Amino acid sequence: MITTIDLFAGAGLMTEGFRQSGFRSIFAAEADHRAVASFNKNIENVARVWDVRKVDASLQSQVILAGPPCQGFSTLGKRDSNDERNKLSLTVLPWIKSANPSVVVIENVPQFVESIYWKRIKRAAKREGYESCHWILNAADFGVPQRRIRAFCILSRIGLPTQPEPTHEIPVTVRQAFSGLSCNPTDLNQHIAPMPKGVAYERIKIIPPNGDKRDVLRLAAHLCPPSWEKIGAQAVDVWGRMNFDEPSNTVRCSFQNPSKGRYLHPAENRVITIREGARLQGVPDEWVFVGDRTSMARQIGNGVPVPLAKVVANSIRRLFIP
Ligand SMILES: C[S@@+](CC[C@H](N)C(=O)[O-])C[C@H]1O[C@@H](n2cnc3c(N)ncnc32)[C@H](O)[C@@H]1O
Repeated sequence: MITTIDLFAGAGLMTEGFRQSGFRSIFAAEADHRAVASFNKNIENVARVWDVRKVDASLQSQVILAGPPCQGFSTLGKRDSNDERNKLSLTVLPWIKSANPSVVVIENVPQFVESIYWKRIKRAAKREGYESCHWILNAADFGVPQRRIRAFCILSRIGLPTQPEPTHEIPVTVRQAFSGLSCNPTDLNQHIAPMPKGVAYERIKIIPPNGDKRDVLRLAAHLCPPSWEKIGAQAVDVWGRMNFDEPSNTVRCSFQNPSKGRYLHPAENRVITIREGARLQGVPDEWVFVGDRTSMARQIGNGVPVPLAKVVANSIRRLFIP
């Protein structure tokens, strides 16, 4: 089996896609102990609470996977090029020198491709004999019931892989993703969500499918704080309701909070459950996440959709086994 070292491994959603393609993780470094516990429970007991800035010089691997934090690059963040978190992406360089991989895959938001960090990584890796390329892929094109556009930045010493071709002209919908799950959270298999109360519940009740905060302003101004009036200057894709017949918007770490995005269930007056969020990320139903609800949502929202990671992995595998 082709081996991987996983840096910034999270709960291992990217690793799971590679595992399904036939790769084997030999070491995963992750700062959050709950994500480490989820990784070890669901994939293989190789994840450690580990600061990626420290290299384990004893390890060699054919592939390195890295999913450095994206907040500093994301349009949702401040996009501060001096954000300390951005510098973390450079920690792949000492790992490359030490573990001597044939291929490295770095996943991030599309803005990463234009950053000085990817440019520095490419330049330094070229001196070590690596070619580079990047792909911008939308998960919805690959059977994931979610519109999520991400960059895959690749370094290789064994030739460049072929970019995966979209597999789904007709996207998988939220309705298909939630099929078989009860509309009411059951508490079974992490099908859990907070039940809104008071004014939050009153707002949610009147939001139609595909609707959002603007509908509350239009239909029930008395339920809106004065700050919502300045809507032009604010994010509007909040208090948003999903549509059963489309893929969801990007599921982020905060999907248990309706004020943070389009996370309301298409028909029920609540945000989607942890299990529904996991389904939208293509996580197998057998997976059990460790931690409280907020931590589970973070592990899910941080991850690479598993089917998307798998198509990337299939393309990388063909470099090793043509
Ligand atoms: C975007 S997530 C990675 C998700 C992962 N690729 C997946 O598919 O599940 C980034 C992760 O980096 C971790 N992290 C941040 N700084 C770190 C550090 N210095 N060392 C190790 N992990 C770190 C965060 O806790 C977070 O889980």
